[in-house]
Amino acid sequence: MTRYLGYQAELWRTSLRDAQHQDFVYVAEETDGTIIGFASGGPNRDHFSKYKGEVSALYLLLQYQRKRIGSLLMKAIVEELVKKNIKSLMVWVLAGNPSINFYEKLGGRQSTTKQIQIGEDDFKAIAIGLTDINNFLL
Ligand SMILES: CC(C)(COP(=O)(O)OP(=O)(O)OC[C@H]1O[C@@H](n2cnc3c(N)ncnc32)[C@H](O)[C@@H]1OP(=O)(O)O)[C@@H](O)C(=O)NCCC(=O)NCCS
Repeated sequence: MTRYLGYQAELWRTSLRDAQHQDFVYVAEETDGTIIGFASGGPNRDHFSKYKGEVSALYLLLQYQRKRIGSLLMKAIVEELVKKNIKSLMVWVLAGNPSINFYEKLGGRQSTTKQIQIGEDDFKAIAIGLTDINNFLL
């Protein structure tokens, strides 16, 4: 798992520096400006999916979890998607990740699965879909 996280960190460093990066990114900051988490989303990379938007990342430092900051970041992503006339979204989550509960609490339902291989390691990822993200903005 540590190797997976290191790989992800490198991917994100490269992606965020890339001027062609199409997704929008929100960061959560401490009062002194320290970044404590971030979320990224945009149109679904899988154009054939019934979920038209995608949350590509949502991460908070451990000590800032369970304080509703993740819910606020999700709302920010949903607002951007709705502005683009996108009404549904999905997110890929590794099987066993407690964040599945977070997305299900927000109305998400487990959908398809896929195997992803990173280096020599295999992981199962689960797509969690939300069909009507307008509910978020009520
Ligand atoms: C998943 C994550 C973004 C959620 O953000 P958060 O600010 O911690 O979540 P919230 O406080 O908004 O949680 C809202 C509700 O979701 C559920 N929930 C959130 N995190 C949960 C967890 N780890 N286990 C079980 N339920 C959880 C709870 O019902 C929670 O309400 P409660 O605290 O009143 O019980 C955050 O915990 C995180 O960064 N986790 C590690 C990284 C990760 O796994 N990201 C997802 C990869 S796609």
